[in-house]
Amino acid sequence: MKVAITGTPGTGKTSASQMVSEKLKYKLISLTDIAEKNDLFEDYDEKRDTHVVDAEKLNEVVQKELKKTKNVLLDGHLGHFLKELDLVIILRTNPNDLRRRLETKGWAKGKIIENVQAEILDIILQEAVQLHKDVYEVDSTKRPIRTVAADIIKIIQEPESREPFKPGKIDWTGYSSYF
Ligand SMILES: Nc1ncnc2c1ncn2[C@@H]1O[C@H](COP(=O)(O)OP(=O)(O)O)[C@@H](O)[C@H]1O
Ligand SMILES: [Mg+2]
Repeated sequence: MKVAITGTPGTGKTSASQMVSEKLKYKLISLTDIAEKNDLFEDYDEKRDTHVVDAEKLNEVVQKELKKTKNVLLDGHLGHFLKELDLVIILRTNPNDLRRRLETKGWAKGKIIENVQAEILDIILQEAVQLHKDVYEVDSTKRPIRTVAADIIKIIQEPESREPFKPGKIDWTGYSSYF
């Protein structure tokens, strides 16, 4: 099974996917590591304080890795842009908690606002459902990493229990005037 764990930065992708990968013995691929090792960071966007990755090139490199592995978790906020995936799981976090997590990480204010706004507007969800059929959401707000990991495992292993994780149940629109 090829599973992308995507979501806005700070939603807990790396924490949860590490736990899932240990429990299920799935290979864990960090898309950030792949981008770094293969020099896929195109240029630095000064205004957004972020490095831009070419999703097409990332896909090319990742497809080679996927051919070598049967069961794999792809950790990264560009995961849903990859092809040949069996499942896309999006982690979601309430804007207030997400802001706090990014503040703890020491992120600059502008970058925090940009990412929290993207979370409020369901940006990754919208991108993911346009590209993939099997897309699910897991809320990581005020839930321990092991509980989030357990939900991901359930989605992977029990197709009959995926219903509660179908897109549309998580709604941050009440935060639309948050900033
Ligand atoms: N379920 C959770 N509850 C509370 N804090 C979390 C949870 N998951 C991750 N965190 C914390 O949030 C921050 C971002 O987590 P991380 O796994 O690096 O997210 P991502 O990979 O999506 O950017 C870290 O400080 C991490 O310890
Ligand atoms: Mg991460």
